Order: sequence, then structure tokens, then C-alpha cells
Amino acid sequence: LILAPVSPQEFEAELGTVATAVNLLLDALLPDIAADRLQAAMRYAVRGHGKRLRPFLVVQSARLFGVADGLSLRVGAALEALHCYSLVHDDLPAMDNDDLRRGQATVHRKFDEATAILAGDGLLTFAFEVLADPATHPAADVRNALVLALAQAAGAHGMVGGQMVDIEAETKNFSSYAEIAAMQRRKTGALFSFACQAGPIMAGTASGALQIYAEKIGLAFQIADDILDVESSAATLGKATQKDQKMGKATFVDFLGMEKAKTEAQGLVSEAVAALTPFGDDAGMLAATARYIIARRK
Ligand code: IPE
Ligand code: IPE
Ligand code: MG
Ligand code: MG
Ligand code: MG
Repeated sequence: LILAPVSPQEFEAELGTVATAVNLLLDALLPDIAADRLQAAMRYAVRGHGKRLRPFLVVQSARLFGVADGLSLRVGAALEALHCYSLVHDDLPAMDNDDLRRGQATVHRKFDEATAILAGDGLLTFAFEVLADPATHPAADVRNALVLALAQAAGAHGMVGGQMVDIEAETKNFSSYAEIAAMQRRKTGALFSFACQAGPIMAGTASGALQIYAEKIGLAFQIADDILDVESSAATLGKATQKDQKMGKATFVDFLGMEKAKTEAQGLVSEAVAALTPFGDDAGMLAATARYIIARRK
């Protein structure tokens, strides 16, 4: 197993470079309507200190398949917009009821609930508008495949369905690892899977290796999020902490205990890196991403 080692410093620099490109693209693509409240809320929702990790995965895995950054960045921007919508709705009073996100007031706090709901709807729709645009890929069947894959990842079988289970789990106990893992796979894992399949789709193929990698890092990512809820602070994280237990959320930390949750996340990262073996040294950046996912402080 030889993956050219990418240091945490090199990784952070590359993450920053791609984040800047994604931010510029989102700024250019999002609606720009003078004095329009909805577009102001949509733009506010994508701002702040987001890690832009999902677009990063799109770009890096697309490179493995020879897809140009100019195309993969558009898919990354679409996915990031959809992710931001999921956060805006996740923070609503009817869901997690949070006041702070990415170090700034949540959208319903800055604006109001109706505007936050509509800004989320706008970002969700915007994501598919970008994917369906011929500028994203010259081949209509590829654009269609991207739209289909993102719809499947974001909808009832994926993120939205997982969010429903997350809310339902507040009032009923999960009794097995499999139940919590199934929820996380939908809630968080599905968008990571899309992020890692978009590149192969743009190259007209699919990747079993990247699918396994995505499943492992998706689960590890949510475990890390649950660990940070316990161990970090709002000042570091930019969102409220020590909330999951209070709200009765079903998390791995709650189910396994902190030490076992950390061991589990470590194991998932090792498995994710091992899945990259077929790509050899080309996958060094994705291996570094997997390590970052559990080492991150925010
Ligand atoms: C937070 O996602 C929501 C989860 C799926 C746990 P991120 O931690 O990627 O949030 P940002 O985009 O960096 O703010
Ligand atoms: C949310 O999970 C995942 C989404 C699909 C938005 P969390 O509720 O744990 O995310 P945070 O901790 O608020 O970012
Ligand atoms: Mg939530
Ligand atoms: Mg939340
Ligand atoms: Mg959380």
C-alpha cells in the first residue's frame, strides 16, 4: 500500500485553494437580484467558515478520472449549495433549534423563519439548476446521471430520510449499532457518496473503490461531528455544543461511549485509506482527507 504521503499542511493548503475557487464560483452563480430578501438570505447561508469539504471531495476524486476542475468545481458548488440548505433547515426551531452556525447567526435568526425555509428551498433548487446546465458537462446523459445521483443522495432514501430518523430518534431509543449506522449513512453518508461518485459519473463510469471510501469517511465524519459536540466549544466550532445528549440525539458517542467511538472512527479511516489502494500514489490527497476528517478541530 503506497500512497504518496500528503502532509496535514499540504492538505490544509489544498483545501483552502479549492474552497476559494468554490466560493468564487458560488458568488458568480447564485442569484444576484438587487435588494432581494431571498437572494440575500441564500448568499448569507453559503457564507461563513464552511470547510467546503464536499466540493473538495468532488474535485479530488474527479481528478483521479481525468475530469477538469472547471467542470468538477461546478458540481462541487451545486453540492455545497445543497449542503448549506440542509444546514439552514437543520437549524430551524422545528428541528435542532440552533442560533449559531459557522460562527454567525443562523439564517432564521438573522432573517426570520419563513425566509430561512425559502432560502433553503432556493438553494436546493439552485443545486439542480447548476447540474442541469450544459456548462457543467457537454453530454446530456452525464448531466442527467448527475441530477439523478444527487436527487437520490439528497432525498427520502438519503439525507432527508436520515434527518427524519434523526428527529424520530429523539423520542425512541436505538438499540443497535446497525440502527445508528443506517441513520448516519442516510443523513450524512449519502452526500459524501455523491461527492465521491460525481467524478466517475462525469467520466462516464463508476468506482466501487471510491464508493467504499465514501461510506467509510461519511460514517467517520458524523462520528467526529458527534465527538466534537461533546469535546469542543462554540467558539472553536462556530456552532452550539453539548446539545446532542440534551436533545436525546442518537449518536455513536452515546451508544458506544467516547473511547469506543474514537476507536471506531480510527478504524473507519484506516479502511477508507485501504480502499484507495487501486489508485496508488494518485490518491494521496484523498488519504489525507480521510485522516483530516477525524483529526479536525472544527
Ligand atoms: C455539518 O457539516 C453537518 C453534518 C453533516 C455533521 P460540516 O461540518 O461539513 O459543516 P460546514 O460545511 O463545514 O459548516
Ligand atoms: C445534520 O447533523 C446533518 C444534516 C443533514 C444537516 P447535525 O444536526 O449533527 O449537524 P450539526 O451538528 O447541527 O452541524
Ligand atoms: Mg440535526
Ligand atoms: Mg444540527
Ligand atoms: Mg452535530
